Amino acid sequence: MERTLSLIKPDGVSRNLIGEVIRFFEKAGLKVVALKMLRLTKEEAKQFYIVHKERPFYDSLTDYMSSGPIVAMVLEGENAIARCREIMGATDPAEAAEGTIRKTFGLDKEKNTVHGSDSPESAAREIAFFFSELDLISGTR
Ligand code: PPS
Repeated sequence: MERTLSLIKPDGVSRNLIGEVIRFFEKAGLKVVALKMLRLTKEEAKQFYIVHKERPFYDSLTDYMSSGPIVAMVLEGENAIARCREIMGATDPAEAAEGTIRKTFGLDKEKNTVHGSDSPESAAREIAFFFSELDLISGTR
């Protein structure tokens, strides 16, 4: 069993896509084991995306991610990290495969509706960023 962190970005929340996005993950057998809605401050968004601090889009991305409410969730399942990324599709919705969340709902490389951790190390860091161990419902629920 593996866990990963997924975010529904402000464009997903503002377009009423929370249920639809969760449906994609649940249909694929991933289980939601923690869930909350919140709004990041600019500082919190900068911390969350610190690995991208040298990239040209860092300021724009962190402005955007602190512009409105987001949903944070922990997904659990076999190979949850890779499967979550498969279900999301490529960063650029124009390049994402048919049937993925980003192909279906994404607007551009920034407003691409969802985030998912990209490695076990980032999953551990990102889950701990939003949730404490007590928030996580274990295993089979
Ligand atoms: S890339 O293009 O493959 O390097 O992008 P990637 O490393 O997957 O993207 C990391 C996060 O940065 C966001 N991103 C952008 N935001 C704004 N403008 C541009 N041009 C841009 N390119 C990438 C992208 O949505 C990723 O966000 P998360 O939340 O990690 O999915």
